[in-house]
Amino acid sequence: MSLEPIKGLGASTTLSELEQTYDEWSGKYEEDMQRIGYPGPANAARLLRNLCPDPSTVKVLDMAAGTGMVGLELKRVGFNTIHASDMSVEIIKRAEDKGVYKRIFRCVMGEERLNAEDDFYFGITIVGCFSIPVKVAIFEELNRVLQPGGYLVASFRPNTWGEDDIYGYKAALNQSTKWRLVSDDLLDFHGSLNRDENHEFYSKWNFVVYQKI
Ligand SMILES: C[S@@+](CC[C@H](N)C(=O)[O-])C[C@H]1O[C@@H](n2cnc3c(N)ncnc32)[C@H](O)[C@@H]1O
Repeated sequence: MSLEPIKGLGASTTLSELEQTYDEWSGKYEEDMQRIGYPGPANAARLLRNLCPDPSTVKVLDMAAGTGMVGLELKRVGFNTIHASDMSVEIIKRAEDKGVYKRIFRCVMGEERLNAEDDFYFGITIVGCFSIPVKVAIFEELNRVLQPGGYLVASFRPNTWGEDDIYGYKAALNQSTKWRLVSDDLLDFHGSLNRDENHEFYSKWNFVVYQKI
């Protein structure tokens, strides 16, 4: 199974354990995702593109950017000024090699302030993250760096976006007066796996769009 490196990660995983996992997986991450099929990045890029009259004129930020698969899709649909951030230094090196990002900075989401100005970005994408607990303060930070009327496009593994809201992500976004829910769709995330003993992986994820009020 191609998702072996992240098997078993969840509520008790720390961010530094996750960072180490991605540092170690960085060289093979993309090959593994391509092997199972990975439509998640294209779905997120399309959602943001559909909200933007002219993608060539706006600035967007790809958080938890990984090796840059989302950045490539953002470029493909017409965005030009794309910045990126991730916590894994090794994975950031792979993203730099893509040449699609105009700026890349390291940030541990939920723990650190984003190194970006207030009201700066038209859109933010976060694809394939939030499967372990991230402090919900991150949503305040994301709101700060978005322009008024700007959009957050984020994917959530369905077990973290259910009624029980195990990590509090849904409450943090829905109960805030700074966000307006635009859409919430269950879309293809990755191809099916031939083994998933713990039933922990989902081939469709919730892709949600929130607008900064
Ligand atoms: C499954 S990968 C997804 C990468 C990319 N978005 C994609 O779709 O290919 C998850 C990425 O999120 C990053 N990440 C997870 N939690 C993070 C956090 N709290 N702060 C910063 N990066 C984080 C990891 O380092 C990893 O690169």
